Amino acid sequence: MKFERRQLSWYVSAVLYRYSYISLAHQLDEDLFAYLGDYLNGILAADCGCGPGQVTEKLLAHGVGRVYAIDHNAAMLRQLEVRVQQAVQEGRVLNVQSRFYPALFSELLTQTDFFSGFGLILFKRSLYMPPEEALPLLRAAVASLIPGGKLVVIHGERSLLQYAFLPDMKVASYTLYHLINRFFSRVGHALGLGEYSLYTRQALIDLLTQAAEGKPVEIIPSQQHAYNLVAITA
Ligand SMILES: C[S@@+](CC[C@H](N)C(=O)[O-])C[C@H]1O[C@@H](n2cnc3c(N)ncnc32)[C@H](O)[C@@H]1O
Repeated sequence: MKFERRQLSWYVSAVLYRYSYISLAHQLDEDLFAYLGDYLNGILAADCGCGPGQVTEKLLAHGVGRVYAIDHNAAMLRQLEVRVQQAVQEGRVLNVQSRFYPALFSELLTQTDFFSGFGLILFKRSLYMPPEEALPLLRAAVASLIPGGKLVVIHGERSLLQYAFLPDMKVASYTLYHLINRFFSRVGHALGLGEYSLYTRQALIDLLTQAAEGKPVEIIPSQQHAYNLVAITA
C-alpha cells in the first residue's frame, strides 16, 4: 500500500499507542460491551481503525465469530498480529490494510460464504474524516449490516473543555494527556500530516441520523463525557 503523508502522525502514534491505552479507553470498552450485552456471540464484526488491536482482542473474548481488523497503518497492524496471533492463525481475525472507503464492506462480505452481513461495525476513535467523506462511508456500512446489526461510532468530543476537563473545569486524571494529544493532533492536521476531524455530540448524532436513513439512532450510555458513543441499529 502506498505511503500517504496524512498517515504520518499514525506512525508516530503507533510507537506510543500501547502506553496510552489509559483507564478511560478501557471504560469506553466497558460501556460498549455493557450496551451490546451477549449480542456479540458468533457474529461477524469489523473493527475499523483497529490500531494495535486492544478492542479486537476484547471482541474475541466476548464471543465474536470473526473480526475484520481494518487499518491503513502497517505498524499498527503488526502489533495487532502479535496481540491476537492465535486468532489470526485460526482465521478468526483477518487483518485488512486499507483506508476506509464505502465499497470496502461489501467487498469484504464477498470473501465470506458463512456470514450474510456484519453484526457489528465499529469505529472507535478512528472516524477522523470530514462529514462529506464520512457520510457515504457510514451509509455503506449500514447497508452491509444484518437486520438488528449495529454500527457504533465512538469519537472524541470536539469541545476542548468537555474533552479535557470534568464538569466545572475540574481536572481529570486524563486532562494533561488529552490537552497534549489534542495539541499535537491539531498541529499534525494543520501541517497535512494527519487527519483530525472532530464532532460535537450533536454533530455526531446528526451525521449518524443522516447515515441511518430512518433506522434508530441512540446514544450509548457512558460513565465519562470526553467521548461520544452513538449507535445505529439496522
Ligand atoms: C486512535 S487509533 C484508535 C485505535 C483503536 N480503535 C482504539 O480505540 O484503541 C486510530 C486508528 O485508526 C486508523 N485510521 C484512522 N483513519 C483511518 C482511515 N481513514 N482508514 C483506515 N484506518 C484509519 C489509524 O491508523 C489508527 O490505527
